Amino acid sequence: MLISSISKASTLLLLVLLGASSSVDAANPKLRSWEEAQTLAKELVGKMTLEQKVKMTTGTGFNRSKCVGNTYPITNPDFPSLCLQDAPLGMRFAYNVTAGVSGVNAAASFDKKAILERGEYMGKEFRGKGVHIQLGPAMNFMRSPEGGRGWESFGEDPYLTGVASAETIIGIQSQGVIATAKHFIANDQEKNRHEESSNIDDRTMHEVYLWPFARSVEAGVGSVMCSYNKINGTSACENDMMTRLLKDELGFNGFIQSDWWAAVSTIGSAEGGLDMVMPGNMLESDDFSPSYFGPNLTLAVKAGKLDESRVTDMAIRITSAYFKMGQDKNFPETTLDSFNATPKGSVDVESDHGKLVREMGAASVVLLSNKDNILPLTKSDKSISIIGSDAFSDPLLFDRKKCGDFGCDPATLIQGWGSGTVSYPSYIVAPLEGITARAGKNVKIQSTKDNYDLENAKKIAKASDVAIVFANADGGEEYISVDGNVGDRNNLTLWNNGDSLVQAVADANKNTIVVIHSIGAVLMPWVNHPNIKAIVWPGLPGQESGNSLADVLYGDVNPSGRLPYTIAKNLEDYPAKATADLEIDYSEKLNVGYRWFDTNNIDPLFAFGHGLSYTKFDYGKLSVKVQSKKNVVNAQLKVQNTGHVDGAEVIQLYLSFPKAAGEPPKILRGFEKVFIKAGHQSKTVKFELTKTELSIWDVASQSWTIPRGQFQIHVGASSRDIRQSATFTL
Ligand SMILES: *[C@@H]1O[C@H](CO)[C@@H](O)[C@H](O)[C@H]1NC(C)=O
Ligand SMILES: *[C@@H]1O[C@H](CO)[C@@H](O)[C@H](O)[C@H]1NC(C)=O
Ligand SMILES: *[C@@H]1O[C@H](CO)[C@@H](O)[C@H](O)[C@H]1NC(C)=O
Ligand SMILES: *[C@@H]1O[C@H](CO)[C@@H](O)[C@H](O)[C@H]1NC(C)=O
Ligand SMILES: *[C@@H]1O[C@H](CO)[C@@H](O)[C@H](O)[C@H]1NC(C)=O
Repeated sequence: MLISSISKASTLLLLVLLGASSSVDAANPKLRSWEEAQTLAKELVGKMTLEQKVKMTTGTGFNRSKCVGNTYPITNPDFPSLCLQDAPLGMRFAYNVTAGVSGVNAAASFDKKAILERGEYMGKEFRGKGVHIQLGPAMNFMRSPEGGRGWESFGEDPYLTGVASAETIIGIQSQGVIATAKHFIANDQEKNRHEESSNIDDRTMHEVYLWPFARSVEAGVGSVMCSYNKINGTSACENDMMTRLLKDELGFNGFIQSDWWAAVSTIGSAEGGLDMVMPGNMLESDDFSPSYFGPNLTLAVKAGKLDESRVTDMAIRITSAYFKMGQDKNFPETTLDSFNATPKGSVDVESDHGKLVREMGAASVVLLSNKDNILPLTKSDKSISIIGSDAFSDPLLFDRKKCGDFGCDPATLIQGWGSGTVSYPSYIVAPLEGITARAGKNVKIQSTKDNYDLENAKKIAKASDVAIVFANADGGEEYISVDGNVGDRNNLTLWNNGDSLVQAVADANKNTIVVIHSIGAVLMPWVNHPNIKAIVWPGLPGQESGNSLADVLYGDVNPSGRLPYTIAKNLEDYPAKATADLEIDYSEKLNVGYRWFDTNNIDPLFAFGHGLSYTKFDYGKLSVKVQSKKNVVNAQLKVQNTGHVDGAEVIQLYLSFPKAAGEPPKILRGFEKVFIKAGHQSKTVKFELTKTELSIWDVASQSWTIPRGQFQIHVGASSRDIRQSATFTL
């Protein structure tokens, strides 16, 4: 063939020009294309018996092999047992791994490159232990602030969630590890998660909940996990929307695995589009219970109740993902041993990833308020009080019997609880340690861990120039209950007497700084206390917590995190609550998060996208250019650092659609994080809106359609801090 004699790069170009399917992946040139992977998969699966194909689709049962999920190996032809392992922020049940920032902190960084790098180092760690499939990223929504697992994902906005999901997936898969987009779909609270039905209209489904899955498929994701809940009354893992929406509409070529024990049938699941049952056994209560797949799947085919071609398709999808990531070449042996994990003999995969975690932790700190420029701390802050259990570490955090999967809250909060955690962090740098180390010998530090002895807290607060008071709010997965919270939070107040502690410290020291580690929004009854000069929001920063925080408090890193969710003044202001209803109608429709506050003219306490810096940025005039033929709109503006320190600004682009389109007042459709040096340096920030960003889901035609009429672009520093607007017409 002619093209075999020319270079690889020009082959690719030629193939693209010819419109032929290329041999590499557009999102990730290091990987095989789906077409090439499918060819290899078909060849291999073609040699398999029905029983062999079924083995590949079935887990061996929980707690029976090395990983939280394992498929059966096959011989002649050979295919290995695939290892599937939690979690979205790092590896569960493993030693010598990195406990990174949570998904919601990754989102708070609003930094595409950093999110990509986070995916890359996680991919390295999973590959290093021989894990084929990482069970992440999570991309469910903070539809209600109480939702126990919202922190594993990327907040309340579909666009931000879509970008963060895609970057994470590209990062993980660049290391030859299959990423899992989860949970499909609308698994947005823990209460009754196995029984409730999330009822969502078609347009909302597409524009909000399906959006990040669409971006994940574009990023080449190898696996999707279906969820526990029902959709419109039918369990997600036997719902034909797996086929209709994911495979047919989005063109997903990988495989769909069930959440752990989320499968509910054999034929219904297979026909709905499920390709792999995890962990294999039917009953969570019995590791030795039979499977909905396994022999039952074989039986269904033999009885003529299911066409064998569906099982062949399952096997091809699984092997395609495997070949696409190049797992047929030099994939490390699985050394992880989840259920007998010991540090002895564990392969250390941490490398210098702690450095990235520290950077990402600092980049995701949101500075909510900063009166009198109390921050950054300076040399003249000679004595500092550090108050509250959340500033400390505690042996309990490392006690897997008493605090399994992080289901406890005795000390500083670095992640929520549940299967989405790193179970055995090598270390945790608590805030007290991080700040003490950075402050140095010349600063007098006093501290107390007791949240209930308010008189003592006041005494210590009074004795220093500056008082830093810490509090937290935790949440997680429903199989663990902490302080009566069964996954979802029972309320939005601070835990462990936090509000009283903050109030007491603020009463005692006129330079009070509040630091909150939380899975999501909290109420702040003390927010207007005149002595509270700053509120710092590090979220769930992972193992480098104290160092990341000190970097920001001392201005070594200029804060640039932004809220990926709205913090409301009142609980009643939110569009939805985590409810005990079994029929959950998503009646707010497109108005998730800040869109609800905009639509209903409710002032938030701190808006989506908000976050302060130690410097100031000036937004120049916004210019917009329409390329009508291409359905592309370009926008650009100059942003100048007019303050005295270097820093990064997150420029957010919100789009208002023509009135007749029936969209919320404005929705996020772009963001860029740019680092600009002090001294009136400036950078030009460019946005490109394509059909994806300009379209709405048209139910009648069942297609993405660009509405005609006048649009408005708003560019600003938060959803409530718009600096420049411009109109254009399509
Ligand atoms: C796994 O199985 C062993 C042996 O049956 C048991 O002792 C252990 O508690 C189980 N662990 C989990 C996490 O189920
Ligand atoms: C692995 O982790 C264990 C427990 O935290 C630790 O004792 C050991 O030193 C670590 N191994 C390496 C090579 O870092
Ligand atoms: C759920 O029902 C609504 C209302 O009938 C419909 O618009 C939507 O398409 C259904 N969703 C799915 C995934 O079938
Ligand atoms: C098939 O599934 C049923 C439950 O639906 C179970 O009782 C039975 O043991 C399974 N059979 C096999 C061979 O796994
Ligand atoms: C809210 O829940 C937390 C955690 O369980 C608890 O500490 C706090 O007291 C609760 N707040 C109220 C007002 O009940």
